[in-house]
Amino acid sequence: MNNFVSLKKISKIYFKKSKIKALNNINLNFKIGRVYSLIGPSGSGKSTLLNLLSLIDKPSSGSIKIKNKIINYDNQNENDLYRSSSIGIIYQNYNLLNDFTALENVSLAELALNNNSKTSEINAKKTLHNLGLSNRVYHYPTELSGGENQRVAIARAIINKPKIILADEPTGNLDLKNAKTVFKNLLNLKNKKRLIIFATHNREFAEMSDCKIEMIDGNIKSINGKL
Ligand SMILES: Nc1ncnc2c1ncn2[C@@H]1O[C@H](COP(=O)(O)OP(=O)(O)OP(=O)(O)O)[C@@H](O)[C@H]1O
Ligand SMILES: [Mg+2]
Repeated sequence: MNNFVSLKKISKIYFKKSKIKALNNINLNFKIGRVYSLIGPSGSGKSTLLNLLSLIDKPSSGSIKIKNKIINYDNQNENDLYRSSSIGIIYQNYNLLNDFTALENVSLAELALNNNSKTSEINAKKTLHNLGLSNRVYHYPTELSGGENQRVAIARAIINKPKIILADEPTGNLDLKNAKTVFKNLLNLKNKKRLIIFATHNREFAEMSDCKIEMIDGNIKSINGKL
């Protein structure tokens, strides 16, 4: 199987009061059709890695290849377009727009690409329905539970049928029952044409991935499973 995403000698250094090496010369390959988990203590570099993969942040050195194309971090427009069409991102704190309903939060992600409000609305309703949220479509984020908000965020992340799904501690704010539901929803998104990478502190959820990547101090400590 070919590598869909490749990281070559990736380093990320932050210069704040002191120099912090958040990622240290990382080489990693991710294959389509697989689910990868990132684990490791707080500060080990999991979010930094996901932010680079989402093309939001730029590495200090090294290169990232997606689908055999080296990412040019100076081409912001192209990267933004690739992100909105092909990468679904799920954050710990949902990152929903509070002034918009669940339906609007989800449909806006498609609208940004196709500019067709009718089909965006139909697809958003369908996606919310598939995540068990049919009766929460017109609710605002403040009127939803944490688990519901995270499922709205998942709907938003998948409405454009992304090739890559990145989730950064998607269940970090949820109780165990809701966390399990959200995780089940996330793992249901696995298919042969999609790559899923998530960071978690929960060992049990990490075990559900095809491959566990353990990080420590910006380095890869161990890799367990099918890389
Ligand atoms: N914007 C930033 N500016 C400066 N330092 C940063 C920045 N973002 C992260 N860091 C530092 O980089 C290191 C890696 O942080 P990162 O957020 O990737 O860790 P993490 O593994 O996601 O931790 P957690 O499990 O707590 O989410 C930490 O030492 C952190 O303090
Ligand atoms: Mg983090």
